[in-house]
This record gives sequence, structure tokens and C-alpha cells, in this order.
Amino acid sequence: MAGVDVLHTELCRILQIRYPICQAGMGFVAPGRLAAAVSTAGGLGVLGAGSMNAKQLREEITVVRDSTDRPFGVDILFAQIKADRNAQVVQYTDEVKALIDVTLEEQVPVLVAGLGSPAGVVADAHRQGMVVMALAGNVRQAVRMERDGVDILIAQGHDAGGHTGRVGTMALVPQVVDAVSVPVLAAGGIADGRGLVAALALGACGVWMGTRFIATEEALAHDNYKNKIVAIDEEGTVVTRCHSGKPCRLIRNQFTESWEGREDEIMPFPMQTIKVGARAAKRARYDGLIEEGGIPAGQSAGLIHDVRPAGDVVRDVMAEAAGVLHERFGVALQAGV
Ligand SMILES: Cc1cc2nc3c(=O)[nH]c(=O)nc-3n(C[C@H](O)[C@H](O)[C@H](O)COP(=O)(O)O)c2cc1C
Repeated sequence: MAGVDVLHTELCRILQIRYPICQAGMGFVAPGRLAAAVSTAGGLGVLGAGSMNAKQLREEITVVRDSTDRPFGVDILFAQIKADRNAQVVQYTDEVKALIDVTLEEQVPVLVAGLGSPAGVVADAHRQGMVVMALAGNVRQAVRMERDGVDILIAQGHDAGGHTGRVGTMALVPQVVDAVSVPVLAAGGIADGRGLVAALALGACGVWMGTRFIATEEALAHDNYKNKIVAIDEEGTVVTRCHSGKPCRLIRNQFTESWEGREDEIMPFPMQTIKVGARAAKRARYDGLIEEGGIPAGQSAGLIHDVRPAGDVVRDVMAEAAGVLHERFGVALQAGV
């Protein structure tokens, strides 16, 4: 029983999920079929709405609901056009507003802010009974998000794939845990059961994993991209601004190398994405020309050795975590955990 209690964390109680594993709402990569597979397996699947329009988001929500009645989330990049923090006024772009409207109308159980503050929508989300989560890359952002009313914080370290901050996961997570009173998830560099146990030891109540879920059958990515994650080791990624204008961890390839030494030619966000990154990334991620554009992945790629069904990933992470707790800490677990 003790082990069950250890792994059935506050996250599980708040979200009413079986396992403390969340699949990151990765733009371009996380469609309904991936979120559904993760939620069905007992984790929290999250739609990456950052790359969708409102119509696509509604369709992907339907895909999830057609396959499971378990909780799931939507991850929105809260790009703001005007923010007056003192007056508590936050205004989002029309595209973001449309995504927010769909998420509220559909009463999706969990709303995640992958970028920027969800302050302008927290009250509406809470009225609908939704849980609001947000990513933070440092303590200052985490404290601000808590003040903005976020229910669960995701502390994402430098090890992570995609846009990332400067502080490593191991140092960041306990500092965020110490600085806020809401529950915290650990993100960045976590891909197996050892990472889950470590995250719990750091004070997190669960994990938010991205890269591990790209190398799954349900992720929306070309097989060459998935297989490249399997092929590279822990040194196979690099943080560069060449994709979007902001620091982003990508797999090292001809595209990233072509920008080395030319950093002063990189345009500020979002111009670099619009003029360079978006088209190059499409060719690399979907057409399989993996040397020709930015393909995000984290340092945990070195831990990933196969492309598997996402549900198996959830179950294997849990089984490994249970094994670690048993073998290293003598925590006896019930069969089936
Ligand atoms: C391909 C890719 C796309 C991502 N897109 C988003 C996004 O749209 N919104 C977001 O909140 N985070 C995004 N992230 C970051 C993830 O949410 C997560 O923090 C990160 O993947 C965790 O680190 P890991 O990759 O080491 O597991 C993305 C990451 C990757 C690898």
C-alpha cells in the first residue's frame, strides 16, 4: 500500500488520473490520438494547440472524446498583444482567443499555458471547473504564474526539448517547489521511471514529458524524426535561436550547423520562424528531410531506444519507477502499479 500512496500523488488527486505522468502538449507533434492514448493508459494526455486553429482544435478534442472519457488537456501558447500587469489586464491575439473559446466551450478538464501567462482566462476556466497549469523556466516566472491564479506549475529545465530556459531541471525543480505553494511538475530530461522517482524526490508531484512521447506510434511526426531521436545520444542536441529567434533545443543537424557562426543574421522572434524556421521545420518534421530544418528534442533522447505505443510508455515508466522504489528504497508495491 505504501508504494501506491507514493505514486498516487496530489497531481493524481487533483486531475483524477491514475498515474502522475503528463504528456507535454507539444505543438505540431501532439494530436488527439496521442493525447487519447496517454489518457487511456492512466496519464494525462495534452493536445498541442500551439500549431492548430480553432476548427482543428475542436476536431482533435472530438478525437480524444471519441476514444476515452478520461481527463485530458489543451496546451495553448498565450501570445499577448498587450498586457498591463498592474491593472490585471491581459489581451491575447485573435488566434489565441479563438483557441481559448473552444477550450472553454468544450469544458476541457485541463488548460495549459505553454508560453506567457494565462491570467486573462484563469477566472473563466475556474468557473467551468477546469484546472489551469503553466510552464515556468525560472523561479520568478513561477511566482508570477502562481500570483496569476495557476493551479499547478510545470518547472521546465534547460535539458528539455523545444523552447527552453537556462536553468537545469535538477536545480530548478526544488527551487520552484520552495518558492510556491501550489503543486509542481518536473519537466526537461525525464524519459523513464528513474526520472519519475527523482522528480518526486525533488518535491514534484509528477512529470511532464515531451521527447519520450515523440518517439511513439501516435505522435504526429515523420518516422525519420522519431528514429533520429532513437539514434542520437545525450550530446545530440543543441540550444540555438536559428529556428524561431528564441533559444530552442533542437537535434544537431545540417540546418543547425549552417547557422553556427552566423548568429548575428538570426532575426528576432517571431520573424525567424516566419521567414526561416516554419517552412524548414515542416520539411524536416513531416516530409522526413531531417537535415533540412529544426527538429526539437531534449537531452533525454539518449535514454530513448525505441518507438513504442504511447500507452506502453506510460505503463513502462510506472513499472520502472515501482522497481526503483522497491530495489533502492525497499518500498513494497502492490502488483499492478
Ligand atoms: C517538438 C516539441 C514541441 C513543443 N511544443 C510545445 C508547445 O507547443 N507548448 C509547450 O508548452 N511546450 C512545448 N514543448 C516543450 C514541452 O512542453 C516540454 O516542456 C518539454 O518537451 C519537456 O522536456 P523533454 O522534452 O526533455 O521531455 C515542446 C517540446 C518539443 C520537443
